[in-house]
Amino acid sequence: MRKPKLQSPTGMHDILPEDWKYFQKIYNVCEELANFYEFAKIETPILEDTELFSRGVGLATDIVEKQMFSFKSRGGDYLALRPEGTAPVVRAYIEHGMHNLPQPVKLWYFGPYFRAEKPQLGRYRQFWQFSFEVLGEAGPVIDAQIVQIFYNILKDLKFKDLVVSVNSIGCSQCRPCFRRLLLSYFRPRESFLCSDCRRRLRENPLRILDCKEEKCQMLVSQAPQMLDHLCEECHKHFKDVLEFFEELSLPYSLNPYLVRGLDYYTKTVFEIFPSLTSQEPKILRSSSDEEPSQGQVFIPKFRNKEDENNIEEHAKVGALVGGGRYDNLAKLLGGKPTPACGASAGIERIALLLKEKGLKIPAAQKPKVFLAQLGELAKRKTLKLVEEFREIGIPISESLGRDSLKTQLNRADKIGVKYTLILGQKEALEGTIIIKEMATGKQETVKLEKVVGEMKRKLKTKN
Ligand code: HAM
Repeated sequence: MRKPKLQSPTGMHDILPEDWKYFQKIYNVCEELANFYEFAKIETPILEDTELFSRGVGLATDIVEKQMFSFKSRGGDYLALRPEGTAPVVRAYIEHGMHNLPQPVKLWYFGPYFRAEKPQLGRYRQFWQFSFEVLGEAGPVIDAQIVQIFYNILKDLKFKDLVVSVNSIGCSQCRPCFRRLLLSYFRPRESFLCSDCRRRLRENPLRILDCKEEKCQMLVSQAPQMLDHLCEECHKHFKDVLEFFEELSLPYSLNPYLVRGLDYYTKTVFEIFPSLTSQEPKILRSSSDEEPSQGQVFIPKFRNKEDENNIEEHAKVGALVGGGRYDNLAKLLGGKPTPACGASAGIERIALLLKEKGLKIPAAQKPKVFLAQLGELAKRKTLKLVEEFREIGIPISESLGRDSLKTQLNRADKIGVKYTLILGQKEALEGTIIIKEMATGKQETVKLEKVVGEMKRKLKTKN
């Protein structure tokens, strides 16, 4: 088949009805948990001032440097399609004086984001996320609760074998020292780094730690680790977070190389993977295992070959969730200092795995009645009847665009309704309608104005 000329832009996809079913299911689970944990819904504009992201996410990040869709508007403003949602939510928190509300302010949101990345499985240029943010609370218990919420959402969506990869990247007190340490380690070894990391060495040396290039990983495995250089406060905070994880029985893995690609993080950072993946091979410890000596690799145990294949398959989509604490972001964006923590999950990635696992999504509400009609007058009366059924809350199906009775009855059969109501030319003139019971083929004729009440009675007694 020849491809149509006009297609959706590279890396951007239509969400077709069969995919939206998964999005809707994910939305419903998020909404239920948001209500339980008392998060209020917020939506911010899809376009923001470009400066919000260059300041908030960081000029030297891949997202701002290479992936932002930004442009100058007709009015001369510099705008960008939002590449992420945390900076916009903090902007809204400041703009609407939410620091005057009882703290913490707990917000959640669900929508599309835009990054000009190289499209591949689980990585798109327009993608959807759901996010939970807690603003105005510094305690480590919040970090643990955010992880727990995302873990619960994925569990409710029937994910098993989830792994929380966690690290602390310190704060503005201890990170500059660690940065200097990293520089003095990598500078003499610069020629062994990939070209991206040579650039990172000047702009953002922490990002070298999560480079996927083998030659960089070799050097990274011997590099100093942030966890050994946290200040007292960050050390205590991280220890407490891990203790809360233990309390909640969250299966976590310490990953001292996890730094995340956004500059606003402080202290705790984490990602959730569908299973232990080849993309995060440097895991040192999981809560249920004995602590291996430094540098030892934690090797996941697969139960059988099928598990192993699934795990490899799942690994390809990457992290499902990413987040952490961002205590300096509000101040950076011109607000009062506001400690905060949150995370986002990739909806396409989750939907992809749900589909792969064959998760069946039941149809919203199966119609129990089909309305068939023949002739102009009957069509008009049926149109009105549709509204009467809607008002009384009985789901119906119809095929008003079809004129052949046979086609309509075939459709009623296919849908599997209990009753078909037939309004032919004769019935329309007489003000009656035929009720056909599909299982027995039994038919009866009733007055048109009585049919809605009659169907209500029948469906109640026969259900
Ligand atoms: P992020 O790690 O950039 O964090 O994105 C979070 C999740 O969005 C990823 O784990 C992944 O599942 C999904 N994702 C990211 N990029 C793409 C893409 N190109 N295609 C498909 N899915 C993608 C953030 O965005 C932060 N705002 C998270 C956060 C909230 N931190 C604190 N609060």
